[in-house]
Amino acid sequence: MKIQVFDTEAQLASHVASLLAAKLEESLTIGFATGKTMVSIYEHLKLNPPRTIKARATMLDEYLGLRANDERSYAAFLNHHVFSPLHFPNSQIFLPQDLSDPIKASLSYEKAIHNLGGLDLQLLGIGLNGHVGLNEPGSSKESRTRVVKIAESTRVANQNEFSSLEEVPTQALTLGMATLREAKNLWLIANGEKKSEIILKFLKGEVSEDVPATLLRDHPGLTVFLDKNAAKKIS
Ligand code: GLP
Repeated sequence: MKIQVFDTEAQLASHVASLLAAKLEESLTIGFATGKTMVSIYEHLKLNPPRTIKARATMLDEYLGLRANDERSYAAFLNHHVFSPLHFPNSQIFLPQDLSDPIKASLSYEKAIHNLGGLDLQLLGIGLNGHVGLNEPGSSKESRTRVVKIAESTRVANQNEFSSLEEVPTQALTLGMATLREAKNLWLIANGEKKSEIILKFLKGEVSEDVPATLLRDHPGLTVFLDKNAAKKIS
């Protein structure tokens, strides 16, 4: 595992965005993530976009129970922040299909990723409870792409995108821990003091399903990018 710490969130985002732009110019399969952490990276990516896009895009997780094309879906988020501004070729975007049958959609999506030759790179944020994707505490190392219940604390954390807590979906489709562990490279990114406690647990705490991110700690291709506020408790 490599850990890189940056003085500011902007420096972190700009660095990751420039690495990502270079990867997008290669024929790789890259898994995109959502969340506030990713917004600053995608903003920097727009400022210094790849010259050409050869990569294929997949996504990490998706809410269930929203209307198709709901602007709060993660697919809409990625479309707004990445695919549309970068003019990502549609034929190179692979998203879960037909969420009206979520179990079938999960199995098909796991297969689709396999058929793409697996993930060369997966971007990851981290939830305050240690979730990655929406692999909430209790997710096993062997878990695959599947339907999950979203933890209440995660629903509360994500509430600001919705008008009330009741509207926040209770279920999601997420790539599993085993699916993520099979990616060649994982870039886990965190910023802000709010994340410092979970970063401490992720990097120095016991490896346990209670903090799913710890199940990635022995991954040979893991790089952790932090700003100094998120890294506060590990230094
Ligand atoms: C969300 C997403 C995760 C993301 C995490 C952190 O629930 N499903 O993929 O990594 O929470 O989000 P943020 O960057 O907003 O803190």
